[in-house]
Amino acid sequence: MSSDVREVKGSQSVAATEKKADALSAEKGKRDASTGGNVKMVPVPSDSIVPERDANKSPVLECRHLGIDFGGLRAVDDFNMMIGRTEIAGLIGPNGAGKTTAFNLLTKVYNPTRGTVLIDGVDTAGMDISKVSKAGIARTFQNIRLFNSLTVEENVRIGLHNQIKCGMWSGMFRLPRHWASEKEFHNKSLELLDVFHMAGNANEVAGSLPYGAQRRLEIVRALATNPKLLLLDEPAAGMNPSETAELMETIVRIRDEFQIAILLIEHDMDLVMGICEGIAVLNFGKIIAKGTPKEIQSDQQVIEAYLGKQDDAKDGE
Ligand SMILES: Nc1ncnc2c1ncn2[C@@H]1O[C@H](COP(=O)(O)OP(=O)(O)OP(=O)(O)O)[C@@H](O)[C@H]1O
Ligand SMILES: [Mg+2]
Repeated sequence: MSSDVREVKGSQSVAATEKKADALSAEKGKRDASTGGNVKMVPVPSDSIVPERDANKSPVLECRHLGIDFGGLRAVDDFNMMIGRTEIAGLIGPNGAGKTTAFNLLTKVYNPTRGTVLIDGVDTAGMDISKVSKAGIARTFQNIRLFNSLTVEENVRIGLHNQIKCGMWSGMFRLPRHWASEKEFHNKSLELLDVFHMAGNANEVAGSLPYGAQRRLEIVRALATNPKLLLLDEPAAGMNPSETAELMETIVRIRDEFQIAILLIEHDMDLVMGICEGIAVLNFGKIIAKGTPKEIQSDQQVIEAYLGKQDDAKDGE
């Protein structure tokens, strides 16, 4: 676990945090029954599994033999994955395994050295960052990337900009259509912020929000692009246990309300095992295991490469 997690924990009132965490863990118990653990997963091509409810629909994402080299380093290699339309999937593995690089390949921050990525059945070869965004992928970043000096609402509007159409002339001359779309932008922004109960923060400067709230705002901004697949890179990093429990609940709610798929990278195994239905494990750029939370937790190779080391790190805390 990264050191920033400990710093944030250290600044909390421990008693208050534990009390909140206890209440939320009772809630979490109820949620777990409806997410990760109990979902029936079925095999599909690309050597993957998807939730049974998604099996008859085309997958939202399919990667075949995806890979990238940085000089002599095969950062990601032979990455095969299929994600169901309403699946919550996890990508885990040790530091430097290639998880963020895989996200960078899916979103065209990097062009793959080899392999293909299909979003909703469409081959993304030749697409750039903005085209894959329009095709339906949105993401958050491991290191938060917000426009710190803009307000919370303005940050969400940046995500919305390709959703609501208003021509140049109506904007320049403040025609009625301009004001109608301004109102539409405003209402939509507040509606999205409300997913995280943040509508009341709309006029605050993004950079002045506490760390956890900035992470939540990044998710809202990504959601504003109306994605079919939401990629979250360590969404719980730096959050305290009660914030993490609340985040888990919200991720499930986002999937349910928006009927989209979510692929998340996370080192917090309570979160991953609690809400992910299918999990892929990366190690040195290669997927070494795929399966349900239960299968992954008992996979010897995964324990040796990653989960065992996580436990050691916790023991040392
Ligand atoms: N642009 C780049 N140029 C060269 N090497 C890179 C580049 N981006 C990533 N790498 C290397 O690729 C490997 C995978 O890095 P990546 O950031 O994807 O790991 P990760 O699994 O996300 O790790 P973490 O859990 O620490 O975030 C690392 O060895 C990293 O140094
Ligand atoms: Mg990373």
